[in-house]
Amino acid sequence: MERLASKHEARQAVAEARREGKRVALVPTMGALHEGHLSLVSAARERADYVVVSVFVNPTQFGPGEDFEGYPRDIERDMDLLGAEGVDLVFAPAPEIMYAPGATVTVDPGPLGGVLEGAARPGHFSGMCTVVTKLFSIAIPDLAFFGEKDYQQLTIVRAMVRDLDLPVKVIGCPTVRECDGLALSSRNVYLSSEERHAATVLYRSLRTAETLVLDGERDSAVVADAMRDTVASEALAEIEYAAVVDAVTLEPIATLGDRPARALVAARVGGTRLIDNIALEVG
Ligand code: PAJ
Repeated sequence: MERLASKHEARQAVAEARREGKRVALVPTMGALHEGHLSLVSAARERADYVVVSVFVNPTQFGPGEDFEGYPRDIERDMDLLGAEGVDLVFAPAPEIMYAPGATVTVDPGPLGGVLEGAARPGHFSGMCTVVTKLFSIAIPDLAFFGEKDYQQLTIVRAMVRDLDLPVKVIGCPTVRECDGLALSSRNVYLSSEERHAATVLYRSLRTAETLVLDGERDSAVVADAMRDTVASEALAEIEYAAVVDAVTLEPIATLGDRPARALVAARVGGTRLIDNIALEVG
């Protein structure tokens, strides 16, 4: 496994693999890897001959006062995990390499970037789209793997690839969870043991939504209220939003049933902001 920090060298390494006729997959990450990330890597390994993983804590997707400085970083451990997964190339550039001084052009995610997470974190999805576009243009992958854990991110990346005619196929992978339902996240390390226990309330609220719908509830306001009530029952958690939306457009839906829907929740547990989501299947 190779580790490169230079955009030029990474592009050359991928070009070489492509000359050998290999199908290239990219798994973009911010490191501090866990089984969720590794599930994307193993899905990539199954479908491609040459797997690139980027490890880059992208400053432009963090807002002022967010956790960019404190975001967990452990590249040596990440390298060991990726080596064991049979990754071919780890691209781990420094911020000043990734962004040339004076870089000003960014990618606008459009309306999908202004709702839910985008409303809570202005600029987040523009920073995400910009870095993902750069990674696509450095690695020029055939396939790119993203987790459903960040459902809005996955939706926006799909829309970006479609709207900007980017020559890559986006593959979404299911959320990997702890036994008690908590979605794996690099930010879970911020949780105290009490908070870790309380954090299961996000998944519990999603299961409440799922159960209501399975039992025949079709009014999404009722479903969203029940999610909010579940989060409110946990003293250490503070709700940011609970929403039932169209799974493709992310627009709120009044009545469940005619289109695929998604329930999404964001809450603070102690000082840590957590998100989760689930598909709502009707019938
Ligand atoms: P990061 O949070 O490191 O996540 C990298 C990828 O892993 C994302 O596609 C995310 O959805 C996926 N992932 C995280 N937790 C997961 C889980 N429990 N199960 C399945 N997949 C999971 O998302 C980012 O980084 C950044 O925004 C990035 C796309 C790299 C751009 O900077």
